[in-house]
Amino acid sequence: VVSPKIAPSMLSSDFANLAAEAKRMVDLGADWLHMDIMVTLKSEIFNSYFTLYSRLYNSLCYSGRHFVPNLTIGAPVIESLRKHTSAYLDCHLMVTNPMDYVEQMGKAGASGFTFHVEVAKENWQELVRKVKSAGMRPGVALKPGTPVEEVYPLVEGATPVEMVLVMTVEPGFGGQKFMPNMMDKVRALRQKYPTLDIEVDGGLGPSTIEAAAEAGANCIVAGSSVFGAPEPGKVISLLRTSVEK
Ligand code: DX5
Ligand code: ZN
Repeated sequence: VVSPKIAPSMLSSDFANLAAEAKRMVDLGADWLHMDIMVTLKSEIFNSYFTLYSRLYNSLCYSGRHFVPNLTIGAPVIESLRKHTSAYLDCHLMVTNPMDYVEQMGKAGASGFTFHVEVAKENWQELVRKVKSAGMRPGVALKPGTPVEEVYPLVEGATPVEMVLVMTVEPGFGGQKFMPNMMDKVRALRQKYPTLDIEVDGGLGPSTIEAAAEAGANCIVAGSSVFGAPEPGKVISLLRTSVEK
């Protein structure tokens, strides 16, 4: 029904050789390349009541002004990589203000634009519209602590998202342990939406893929298990076989 998409997470690649790493993954059978975008908020001073309010809200919820305590890449890197590959660039935005990055990510050549529901409670409809008109496929991600019900309106909206990314670790870093209890969310989504792209991200590899595939995930992000394997191509095909079963 829903086709498998195996998406090596380039966060585990050698960033200094990104073009070659991307080509290597595509040659080994990757369907998508997962790009983790983690950036900081712009350092502008509070310029409105709303900004002040959202800063306070963010600092309560996200321990500081950043969505995750890490920095990775942004649109300039996507733009450079795009010149070397025609692969689907599955961009996962771990930022507090995704709206700020839609235009630049679209221009840079991103294929998918997945934002977090935790930071898009009020403006998701406008965000999804903008992502589409910038030529990208909209997706919504949820952190482990976020109830799955929060994404239902985004899947059922007039301009719906086309993918739900269920985080199976706390966002921020590769190489963490898979959280099997997140599979309840995947199962609930698959039951409601038989044809939806459901992505899992964090700790996926040969020992955890069965649980994810059985629950109904079809888009599989895998960083350390692919890049750390002696034969990454074997891991990619094993992941695909599990989803196809
Ligand atoms: C974590 C990122 C993931 C990460 C996954 O915040 O969203 O994409 O790279 O890495 P592994 O597969 O090593 O858990
Ligand atoms: Zn990710």
